[in-house]
Amino acid sequence: MIEPVISVKHLSKQYLLEHQHQDVFAIAKHRLKNLAKRAIYGKVASEPAKDKFFWALKDINFDIYQGERVGIIGQNGAGKSTLLKILSRLVYPTTGEAIIRGRVTSLLEVGTGFNNNLSGRENIYLNASLHGLSRPEVDQIFQDIVNFSGVGTFLDTPVKHYSSGMRVRLAFSVAAHLDPDILLLDEVLAVGDIAFQKKCLQRVEGLTSSGRTILFVSHSIGHIIQFCDRVIWLDHGEIRFDGAATDGVQLYQEEQLPYQDIAVKLAQRSDRTGTGIVQFTDIEILDAQRQPIKSVATGQDIYFALKYKCLTPLSSPTFDVYACIRVETEHKQRLFGLPSEILPIDLTQLEASGTFLCKVPRLPLIPGIYGITISLLVNRQLVDKVSEAYNLLVVEGDYYGTGKLPLKSYGQLCVDFDWIHISE
Ligand SMILES: Nc1ncnc2c1ncn2[C@@H]1O[C@H](COP(=O)(O)OP(=O)(O)OP(=O)(O)O)[C@@H](O)[C@H]1O
Ligand SMILES: [Mg+2]
Repeated sequence: MIEPVISVKHLSKQYLLEHQHQDVFAIAKHRLKNLAKRAIYGKVASEPAKDKFFWALKDINFDIYQGERVGIIGQNGAGKSTLLKILSRLVYPTTGEAIIRGRVTSLLEVGTGFNNNLSGRENIYLNASLHGLSRPEVDQIFQDIVNFSGVGTFLDTPVKHYSSGMRVRLAFSVAAHLDPDILLLDEVLAVGDIAFQKKCLQRVEGLTSSGRTILFVSHSIGHIIQFCDRVIWLDHGEIRFDGAATDGVQLYQEEQLPYQDIAVKLAQRSDRTGTGIVQFTDIEILDAQRQPIKSVATGQDIYFALKYKCLTPLSSPTFDVYACIRVETEHKQRLFGLPSEILPIDLTQLEASGTFLCKVPRLPLIPGIYGITISLLVNRQLVDKVSEAYNLLVVEGDYYGTGKLPLKSYGQLCVDFDWIHISE
């Protein structure tokens, strides 16, 4: 029987409510004050009542097997960092246990484990030796760490002068080169720039393909869906979902109000450009049967439904009406546009209100979150344009009919192709 590399059993963590987000000195001060009161007055009347405690984690149970890439999602304060700290042995659980088989390297908060007064070079040696590497062992990987981090010119500068991006680059680079069996990453990619994020994801992909196990906390659903096979959703310290990443992300997204509000409140958005005589009031995604759906699968036939309203009666005839949809990545990289003007179609008969349907057969987007920008031109004038009018959630689907999609590192689009072998 294969044993899990991480086995979490009935794990709970209780904190004193008053201490939330306080530093260790504040907590020590509070304890000393209580001790002093106790010494002077005997039993302290203001002893923390039971309800001053709260459970940051409540009866958490899961097993993780070698090579799994697990995303931990959940809102602020859900307990994600607490869980990773317990797995890193930085925090003790109140009850329950976490059994770990293998060497753990964790990258929890920006620059933790760095000594500010030491240089980048000295910190690399310090960190690596804390993970049990000897000096000759560090010598061997030193150049790789430096090259990957890209902080080479600042190697002999004290870390306190590094920007937060530089710190995270160096910290990630050290962690990723320590050859851990299990790598715990908490919001690591939130700080670095996009090029570095990509490099990190590739490195982590490399680590998992050689059998390493990764736990990855992120608020970027795009990263989670691109990178993880499995998702654990923490909600107020409890597991709400544990299973396939695409299913978990879908459920999580459906519950995130701001996400749905984007569509609901399109009519109220003030960050729009254009004359405003006609405005988009709503955007929906429909399936092939024209039923509204919240997420779509790669390769699915869909419609974008753009509802509009004429705010002032149109006095002159509308001879030129063009609608356009633009699809962008999470990082605002434009992927493609769907401008009606290049097709031999006629949208000219505007009513007081109506809907434009744009059909997209076999959606060619790999799983992720995409921004949808919409615009409308009437009589060659821009009348309405809303950037990121909608966040499109794409989950895994069978674009090629083979049950497989290209690796994420190739890019975010699917294109039809064929391979032919011609013999000489
Ligand atoms: N040392 C501590 N003392 C008291 N409360 C704490 C301590 N550390 C965390 N907490 C509390 O525990 C809860 C869970 O915190 P945690 O940092 O694990 O959340 P998170 O899911 O990582 O959130 P975020 O997405 O904001 O990073 C929060 O309510 C937090 O205030
Ligand atoms: Mg956190």
